[in-house]
Amino acid sequence: MNYQNILSNTSNKITTITINRPQKLNALNKDTIQELHDAFDEANRSDDTKVIIITGSGEKAFVAGADISEFADFDVKQGAKLAAKGQELLFDFVENLSKPVIAAINGFALGGGLELAMACHFRIASSNAKMGLPEVSLGVIPGYGGTQRLPQLVGKGRAMEMVMTAGMIDSNQALNYGLVNHVTSEEELIPFTEKIAGKIMRNSSVAIKGAIKSINANYKDGVDGFKTEIKQFGRCFGTEDFKEGTSAFLEKRKAEFPGK
Ligand code: COA
Repeated sequence: MNYQNILSNTSNKITTITINRPQKLNALNKDTIQELHDAFDEANRSDDTKVIIITGSGEKAFVAGADISEFADFDVKQGAKLAAKGQELLFDFVENLSKPVIAAINGFALGGGLELAMACHFRIASSNAKMGLPEVSLGVIPGYGGTQRLPQLVGKGRAMEMVMTAGMIDSNQALNYGLVNHVTSEEELIPFTEKIAGKIMRNSSVAIKGAIKSINANYKDGVDGFKTEIKQFGRCFGTEDFKEGTSAFLEKRKAEFPGK
């Protein structure tokens, strides 16, 4: 597919999606959100993709937020629609993908940028990264899931402080908060993220799909995560990957998962 605002490249079963509006610090406008939806959807369906990495182009930003110029004159109805549409197309969509999605945060991840990173399954940051939800400094609140996912990741008190102060934290503080799993140098960010992706790829993709669903169930209202886990656990027993994984262990060889 041809994109104007993003790049999507697949090699060695890793699809790297790069938000490519560096002159606007990769701010998420409407078109970029739609293109990201399409690229994630395509990668999730493709047999060539096992892991998806999302990052930003340029040295400065992962994503500096939703594009403020697009919503500055919105009314109440348009504001609510903006959040609902964005959550449906991108943020909830990414969180619920069946393939692992890793955010490689290479600079500013602010507002919608941090919300996008938080919708990913986990996050790795370079040492120059800065993260925050500055929305209240604009007279608005996070609208792409930030008020829900930030407390899930860092705890209620820290989330309250970050949102209320509209401040930024650096990558070491983000590591300390559990917002990111690892911090690397700028040069090492993508190679290190690819290395983790490589470890994931050795395992059963159908089991990983069930694990993502089960872990996400813990954070969904009205869903019993333990029941989801039982169902997903049971499903594994009907897969070729399970037969291969258990046989390989008993035969003392490396498993070659068919991904079915
Ligand atoms: N929406 C739209 N445009 C944005 C943007 C956003 N969220 N963030 C940055 N840009 C644009 C700037 O307007 C500027 O465009 P211009 O060159 O046409 O004037 C360009 O990106 C570069 O940004 P600039 O502010 O000049 O860079 P900086 O290094 O001085 O500051 C930031 C970097 C991230 C601190 C600053 O851009 C910023 O505060 N951005 C907004 C962050 C925010 O509030 N996000 C939440 C949105 S809900």
